[in-house]
Amino acid sequence: MPDARDDRTTALAQLAADAAGCTRCDLYRRATQTVFGEGPVGAALLLVGEQPGDREDVDGHPFVGPAGGLLDAALADAGVNPGDAYVTNAVKHFKWEPRGKRRIHKRPSVTEIQACHVWLEEEIRLVRPRVAVCLGATAARAVLGRPTTISSARGQILDGPEGLATVVTVHPSAVLRARDGDRAAMRRGLVADLALARQAAG
Ligand code: URA
Repeated sequence: MPDARDDRTTALAQLAADAAGCTRCDLYRRATQTVFGEGPVGAALLLVGEQPGDREDVDGHPFVGPAGGLLDAALADAGVNPGDAYVTNAVKHFKWEPRGKRRIHKRPSVTEIQACHVWLEEEIRLVRPRVAVCLGATAARAVLGRPTTISSARGQILDGPEGLATVVTVHPSAVLRARDGDRAAMRRGLVADLALARQAAG
């Protein structure tokens, strides 16, 4: 017999189909496709990144490139089961500018984050996670609705939308970009924040 969770799964699939045609800001014009969130309804953790990267834009799935590889390994080290995480982004289209033959990532503006917020809000409502994890400042801006610095916000359980427990941490790409001498410590910090979120989810 279908239960409420099946209804939410169906609604989430419909939401993804609606988002595929999103023109709420101009980013759709240069992106290959909308990259919507993925993972089960009822996932304990909702992980929010910034926006799809070059690889995600082509493949159509979140966190399948190098940052995703680092994130998967950090989640495993933090004891998070992949089935316990719904993974999405604050902005669902890849924002880039050309440099020669390459597409260079550009940070989304506050207007673009706000234009995309309806999708994130609905994902949170339908997934009903116990904890949201913001990967980087853009995700924190989108989830908490205010500018947030990682250094001051991390290591705590914050009060997110509708009282949703929220953890802020570094973006996996920042770990990848860190200087050799800093990378291991940044990765340990990411794993510690993910473990905090797992514990908070119970
Ligand atoms: N970076 C993000 O923030 N999201 C992705 O999906 C990939 C890279």
